Amino acid sequence: MVMHLLSIDDLTRADIEKLFQLSDGFLEVAARPIKKVPTLRGRTVINLFLEPSTRTQSSFELAAKRLSADVINIKGTTSSVVKGESLKDTILTLESYRPDIIVMRHPQVGASRLATRYTKAAIVNAGDGTGEHPTQCLLDLYTIQRTFGHTEGLKIGMVGDILRSRVARSDLFGFRKMGMDVRLVAPPTLVPPGIEEWGVPIYHDLEALEEVDIIYLLRMQLERAKGRVPPVPSLREYSRRWGLSPAKVKPGQRVMHPGPINRGVELSGDLADDDRSLILHQVESGLAIRMAILLWCLAGALGEESEA
Ligand code: NCD
Repeated sequence: MVMHLLSIDDLTRADIEKLFQLSDGFLEVAARPIKKVPTLRGRTVINLFLEPSTRTQSSFELAAKRLSADVINIKGTTSSVVKGESLKDTILTLESYRPDIIVMRHPQVGASRLATRYTKAAIVNAGDGTGEHPTQCLLDLYTIQRTFGHTEGLKIGMVGDILRSRVARSDLFGFRKMGMDVRLVAPPTLVPPGIEEWGVPIYHDLEALEEVDIIYLLRMQLERAKGRVPPVPSLREYSRRWGLSPAKVKPGQRVMHPGPINRGVELSGDLADDDRSLILHQVESGLAIRMAILLWCLAGALGEESEA
């Protein structure tokens, strides 16, 4: 049986710890001169990316290749794919190749869940509109685990465009699942309606970051604001009031960001390059955790085959 990864809520704390353990092994593989293992030899992984992506797409592609899987990369623009029939047809077409895993990024919330109806492959949600981004959450958690040696009890403040961020949604739930203390810090216009249901403290001032261990910055998702009134007067204004520079970060604090970063908007260029920034560690952890995720999705199926 294959396992889908659609939401961070699909995973228990024990699952996440297991993924960390697998990732530790894959980090070790990444340090070798020959960085390839035969784990998924003969398996097919399709990366279906219907929204722009640099690091998530390249990270999944390299993860699948390092596990020796056959990989197909399909990239499309958001305009060529619409919900309903066309997504169904895309998945049914890909199903003819009998893939083992489809890693999917799509502009619409729930697209990856819908895809599970039309394929026997495991579906990994690599971002569905403003919905969820569970593999980002896992790589963030793994980065924190590697940096601090634990996650329990750490305080983290997520700053910025909470309104349109799938990363904020997945991370909030994942961080709490791993015992972290989460707060959101944003202008009132960048907080989604109904946020009270998330049961998380919200602050409208950067002072709320003073006592956190980790500051997690989010990118202003202007591409999702199409045609609507911008929630902040201008990026310049936003950066003046909400942008972070090294002077605003305390010595022991660490800074994270899912990327792509906008230097000079949510953080200054010198903060991005500062030792306290974990941004490039996140990318490194991302490759290892995505290898672990691909294996985790097929572990049940691999086990059944070896018993047969
Ligand atoms: C994030 C995304 O696509 O949701 N980026 C990523 O996966 N590396 C965050 C963002 O685009 O701001």
